[in-house]
Amino acid sequence: YLNTLNDWLAGLEQLRQFAAGAKLFSVSKLASKKLEDANVKQTTYTKLLNAITGIASAIFGLIIFLLSGFLVKNGLLEISALLIVGNFRFYLNQAINQISNARGHMKGIKKLVTEIDKSAEPVHSSSKDSSIAPAIIKTKSLGLKFSNGESLTYPDLQIKEGEKILLTGDSGAGKSTLFKLILGELKPSSGKIIFEDKNGNQIVPDLRKIGYLPQDPVVFPASILDNITMFNDKLDNKVAEAVKEVNLSADLKKFDEGIDKKLNLDKLNISGGQRQKIVLARAKVHDSDIILIDEGTSAIDQKATMDILNNLLKSKATIVFIAHNFNKKMHDLFD
Ligand SMILES: Nc1ncnc2c1ncn2[C@@H]1O[C@H](COP(=O)(O)OP(=O)(O)O)[C@@H](O)[C@H]1O
Ligand SMILES: [Mg+2]
Repeated sequence: YLNTLNDWLAGLEQLRQFAAGAKLFSVSKLASKKLEDANVKQTTYTKLLNAITGIASAIFGLIIFLLSGFLVKNGLLEISALLIVGNFRFYLNQAINQISNARGHMKGIKKLVTEIDKSAEPVHSSSKDSSIAPAIIKTKSLGLKFSNGESLTYPDLQIKEGEKILLTGDSGAGKSTLFKLILGELKPSSGKIIFEDKNGNQIVPDLRKIGYLPQDPVVFPASILDNITMFNDKLDNKVAEAVKEVNLSADLKKFDEGIDKKLNLDKLNISGGQRQKIVLARAKVHDSDIILIDEGTSAIDQKATMDILNNLLKSKATIVFIAHNFNKKMHDLFD
């Protein structure tokens, strides 16, 4: 159920844009029905088994009662022994009840558990390396074939520490896909991506340490401040500076609540450019050593873009910036 929600909610923007909300409701309803069915099935089994053990236990109890009555009457058994048998019966009964309950649980959710087992994949992580961001990224004979037959191939690239790289090209050339390959969101069909530390040793990096601004950045129904810090108030003190650097100050002055303005995703109450500035500020306060920016300023005017680039490219971080509409002056800011 969560898997389905995750898949669909990730594309919520598109669903909204194309007014396809009904589709979202129908798939989530279907997924939740599976969960509900498993619950119903489990309850049915439990109740049924409870009834059976209840009846069995009553019959058993009756037999013991009659038998012990008979034995006591004929002087073959003392009352104390009878009490012991009663106790024994009580514990036995409890154990049988527990077993039958557990059995009901197991039977009811078996199908779901098998499905979850099948979709689970082992996660391999190297405990030694997994918390470092890569310093150098290289690609070798990288290629990707999509299931619809379309394929992309890349020239061998090298992204060095601290470099400011501008990545341009026609739309559909494979720029966004390159970022997804680097981030591990897509697996290459051929070739490989090599990550190295500062000393050129190959490492298995923690890819979450790479800052990434997707082409279609996601904002949340929360204050602009929270959208920048991503709900981490330890970063609040870095926000003022970041806001200035991404040219968001003038925009914030237009809102009565300023940075505490709550974003409304339904009636989008900020412009596309403001949204990009918020996400750029988010990257800024989170301070990654390496940042991949996919068309991060496409909705921001030229003058503000120039200011933002000037500030952004001053940082020590490695930056790869995808853009297709930069003028010569902007080009020249990059390595
Ligand atoms: N999931 C996919 N299935 C099939 N083709 C895809 C998929 N994702 C991207 N493509 C194709 O790969 C090419 C490169 O896409 P993309 O990297 O988004 O281009 P760019 O960012 O340079 O505009 C496009 O032709 C696109 O149609
Ligand atoms: Mg793209």
